[in-house]
Amino acid sequence: MKTQLISTPKEKIDSGAVVLFLHEEQANFSDFKHSFDPSLVTLIEECYTCGEFKGESFEVTLIHQPAGFCASRLLLVGLGKDTEMSAARVRQGAGSAVRFATKRGIQDLALVPPSAIDSGDAVQALIEGALLGTYEPDAYQTQNKNVNNITTLTVLSDEKWAKRFDAGVAIADAQNFTRTLVNEPGNILTPNKLAEKAHQMALAAGLDVEILDHERIRELGMGSLLGVAQGSAEMPTMTIVKYAPDNPTPGIHLGLVGKAVTFDTGGISIKPATDMGRMKYDMAGGAAMLGAMKALARLKPQIPVTAVVPSVENMLGPQAQRPGDVVTSMSGKTIEVLNTDAEGRLILADALTYAQKLGCTHLVDAATLTGAIVIALGHERVGAFTNSDEWLSRVTRTAETVGEKFWAMPLDSEYKKLIESPIADLANIGPRWGGAITAAMFLKEFADPLPWVHLDIAGTAWLEEEKPYLAAGPSGIPVRALIALAMDL
Ligand code: BES
Ligand code: ZN
Ligand code: ZN
Repeated sequence: MKTQLISTPKEKIDSGAVVLFLHEEQANFSDFKHSFDPSLVTLIEECYTCGEFKGESFEVTLIHQPAGFCASRLLLVGLGKDTEMSAARVRQGAGSAVRFATKRGIQDLALVPPSAIDSGDAVQALIEGALLGTYEPDAYQTQNKNVNNITTLTVLSDEKWAKRFDAGVAIADAQNFTRTLVNEPGNILTPNKLAEKAHQMALAAGLDVEILDHERIRELGMGSLLGVAQGSAEMPTMTIVKYAPDNPTPGIHLGLVGKAVTFDTGGISIKPATDMGRMKYDMAGGAAMLGAMKALARLKPQIPVTAVVPSVENMLGPQAQRPGDVVTSMSGKTIEVLNTDAEGRLILADALTYAQKLGCTHLVDAATLTGAIVIALGHERVGAFTNSDEWLSRVTRTAETVGEKFWAMPLDSEYKKLIESPIADLANIGPRWGGAITAAMFLKEFADPLPWVHLDIAGTAWLEEEKPYLAAGPSGIPVRALIALAMDL
């Protein structure tokens, strides 16, 4: 697929369709009105008056052989009320255009930036959204593959926005990389395979990478991670990917820790069969960290960033850990494993400790950690927990700027007693209620004293239904927020 930014006037470009963004109020069509052929103006106005096209968010309509255009079609995309305009809306509009076009076999699109937002923001949002819209989780379909795929995506704007355009490409590419990893089934993407993919990505991107194997993990005393891994024939891995700038801003080293359980059966505390197949996505946190690193290698923030991705398969078998087992984490804290299905926090415990050992000063972790966060927040917002309100507000604010929605969850010290164990330092579960909070409380024990944000993405990492601008399946959250955070810092 070719992507380009060119300043050719929209009337002159020869493409399958020129994409124009319009608002709900017909008046806003005046953006283009004066320069259009009168017959085309009448045609578009008629679309509004008869209600065929209202300009509502992500509404799309096609006009064939538009007078005065070299392109064979105009694709009108609604962006809703002009007072509600944002880069996020433009990104989604571009994705909607691409998905509408792909379904109709249009392979070549030229996107015209809407004037309602800053031009640089628009250029980036358009190419980002368009590329995100092209992703389909169809890697294992042998029929109809690559039939209607887009060949060219063009943004029509001043070439002075080349940097913003390239950033959009890098970010969407990273998010799609994460989505591809998350979509991989458990039999193919084992912990070793994930490490291998991270290794390939890092080498190609020019990042440092280190993979801790089973032996190294044992030497380092990561007993909490090992306990989870021992039920599987697949060996665990801990992948470390490092980005280091030439002249780093002193005093800050961002650590990105991501849960990568390549399949979660629950272990001896086995899950019910219904929907267990979804548990291949239990590595979405780790995949997001790897995606973010892929983009950061190109965008080059001024701070060092290290991703730490612990990976295991949570299985049952003769060697599997039992409910009631006690393990010793790398930090020295002992844990009574009362439920083997609460495995994410066990592998993250050692990863958070290791990130501290590697010199990180600020931590963000992402994990499909609890069903309880899905009960609390549904599929719209990521649950965000912290031991530092200042750090959390920075993370959340940055996420908002790139259209990812987080929601602050409580972590009062009173919750701590819920994960006390009569025989060890901590228990890996609390009582039934407040399950997302007790899970976060457990992680806090290993993140302290560093400022840390925990993102529970169990409800948001997988889209149950297709959106006009995104395929159903892996969402790639919170890749954009993490990239924006590193750049902002
Ligand atoms: N990977 C799951 C979290 C999950 C559960 C995501 C359901 C999406 C839907 C995690 O490892 C898990 O099983 N958590 C348990 C914790 C419980 C045993 C305390 C849960 O949420 O049920
Ligand atoms: Zn589990
Ligand atoms: Zn899990």
